[in-house]
Amino acid sequence: MKAIQLDLTHALFFAEKQYASLGDCARQAITTLEERTGAGNDFLGWLDLPEHTPAELIDRINATAARLREKCDYVVCIGIGGSYLGAKAVNSALADNFEYYYAPNPGNPKVVYAGQNIGEDYIADLERLLSGKRFGIIVISKSGTTTEPAISFRIFKEMLEKQAGVEAARELIVAITDEKKGALRTLADRQGYETYVIPDNVGGRFSVLTPVGLLPIAVAGHDIGKLLAGAAEMAKSTLRPAAQNIAEEYARMRNALYQSGKKIEIMVNFDPRLHFFSEWWKQLYGESEGKDGKGIFPASVDFTTDLHSMGQWIQDGERTIFETVLSVAKPAVERRIPEDKDNLDGINYIAGKRIDEVNRMAELGTQMAHVEGGVPNIRIELDRLDEYTLGQLIFFFEKACGISGYMLGVNPFNQPGVEAYKKNMFRLLKKPGYTE
Ligand code: PA5
Repeated sequence: MKAIQLDLTHALFFAEKQYASLGDCARQAITTLEERTGAGNDFLGWLDLPEHTPAELIDRINATAARLREKCDYVVCIGIGGSYLGAKAVNSALADNFEYYYAPNPGNPKVVYAGQNIGEDYIADLERLLSGKRFGIIVISKSGTTTEPAISFRIFKEMLEKQAGVEAARELIVAITDEKKGALRTLADRQGYETYVIPDNVGGRFSVLTPVGLLPIAVAGHDIGKLLAGAAEMAKSTLRPAAQNIAEEYARMRNALYQSGKKIEIMVNFDPRLHFFSEWWKQLYGESEGKDGKGIFPASVDFTTDLHSMGQWIQDGERTIFETVLSVAKPAVERRIPEDKDNLDGINYIAGKRIDEVNRMAELGTQMAHVEGGVPNIRIELDRLDEYTLGQLIFFFEKACGISGYMLGVNPFNQPGVEAYKKNMFRLLKKPGYTE
């Protein structure tokens, strides 16, 4: 079942010529990707994850999640970049907007995140939250040597060992890392933690459907089987030569817009739960395409919130942008706007309407205004926010990203630029071997 639809109507006429001329290039790119003959082809393991994740692995992840859910009120998920954003995106999209204001229920822990920044106060605040509480840790690092998660893990491991005891802590810590190498692998083996492997052929930003994303998503109580089933459906429907291949079309459209001078893509949502999905998407596209002096800059906004802050720029600023809108067709519940006898706010004209209808008209009105203002609009409609739909959306963006990167002429599966800041930081901190 198709849970997402792509609509290019309001983008096409901005770059019709370029779109038409890119047909062969798009077909070539998808062929290169699927035949695994392009640059970075040793990092294409993600293509197989939806259909070839073994049932035993899913069962083991669910069993680990059940253990953590039973023994913990909080599970600290430690990781950064590709070892953080996928789980955060899916868990936020499926969460109650106010979940963190409720106390955890037995058997239903809160997943909290660390290692995605080096804010001293952030860590201190999390220590305060976890003080005296039943908590566990999932530590995720492919390289096993990343500074941010290493700092957090050191702190929360020590705290857990003090609070629960060293032996009990072993049962409450799960490490997800490389099969053989890296400091985290050595530490986990030495301490006897349960571990999961991040496959060698899956890069960080493509790893949400490995244990990196699946375990924290299962711990939050979501159905990872459905997530993978949605991804598998999308994998099938975007295989060449599909009748209508939405991954190829999206990749082709964004390259056509790029060639017509649109250098910034703004991911827009009209549901705040998708905020972190945009963050995941930004890493996926930014890290895959931003190289060799090329690449669309991926940005994001939450509407209607940001219409009141960024709306002016989008409507009237430099015409180098296009929007890609994520629109959820069916909210989980129905709420209507009440009538008010005084009508001082003047909104009785919409009394009785569903809030979603107003949101929908805001979306349509925004689309009309922005398109008229010279902003092409790609629209992606999601049937609803559930595991199955998100699985489809994840694989759709991943597949389109591979195609789009090849169309652009870059290797979408490396990230040489990420190292530059680290080298400077290590030198400034006088890390052994980095003093020059
Ligand atoms: O996509 C990437 O490779 C990066 O964002 C990494 O995921 C991030 O730097 C974390 O790396 P690691 O998992 O090795 O700790």
